[in-house]
Amino acid sequence: MQRRFAIIGHRAQSNGKLNLNDLAGASGRMDVLVRAVSSALFISHGMRKDCHITLHLMGGPGVPRRIWFDSRNLIGLHVDDRAIAGRISKILQEPSPARGQLVEFSPGLWHSGGDIETTLEEWKKEDVQLLVLDADAPPLSNVEAEKVGFILSDDLPFSDEESDLLAKLEKKSIGQTWLQGHSAITVVHHILDQS
Ligand SMILES: C[S@@+](CC[C@H](N)C(=O)[O-])C[C@H]1O[C@@H](n2cnc3c(N)ncnc32)[C@H](O)[C@@H]1O
Repeated sequence: MQRRFAIIGHRAQSNGKLNLNDLAGASGRMDVLVRAVSSALFISHGMRKDCHITLHLMGGPGVPRRIWFDSRNLIGLHVDDRAIAGRISKILQEPSPARGQLVEFSPGLWHSGGDIETTLEEWKKEDVQLLVLDADAPPLSNVEAEKVGFILSDDLPFSDEESDLLAKLEKKSIGQTWLQGHSAITVVHHILDQS
């Protein structure tokens, strides 16, 4: 089964020079997104075979940008946070593509304009089962679909606008305790690995 994750970085920097020494502050909690990439893609020795994560950098300056890591083709990405942040930093030097226009930056690493609404539109067209991660929802168990996409937030709750957009989607919990996003991704993998 193909697994996808979409994480919204509400304050995450979308353009310009990224301060690799201050990912948690000046970069708008980019550290949260970097850890999410690591948890989504990496296993003990190497990378999951068919796993995607799309970061939504909503913090400006300028227009939002999405960065899509596709484990099927990714090469040369190292697991350490600074290396992942370094890749993101190089992409932020490029002009942000138009909404929905996917530009391959390097093998398996793409960027595009748009926001979570754009990602959901794309995933629906690709028959991805959409599940919003929410501690207060019914528990996640096994998933039958060939492609499943999980939506999560960074350290902030979903905005009112995002909540409206996600309201009609199915919600699933991985436990009653709210975890950090990267931990939630690890637990999702653990649950799906059992089935
Ligand atoms: C740090 S949490 C966000 C906490 C934020 N204060 C809130 O109220 O949404 C990051 C994301 O991880 C996911 N998450 C964390 N714990 C979870 C749980 N127990 N079950 C399902 N999803 C969870 C949610 O999608 C959440 O948006």
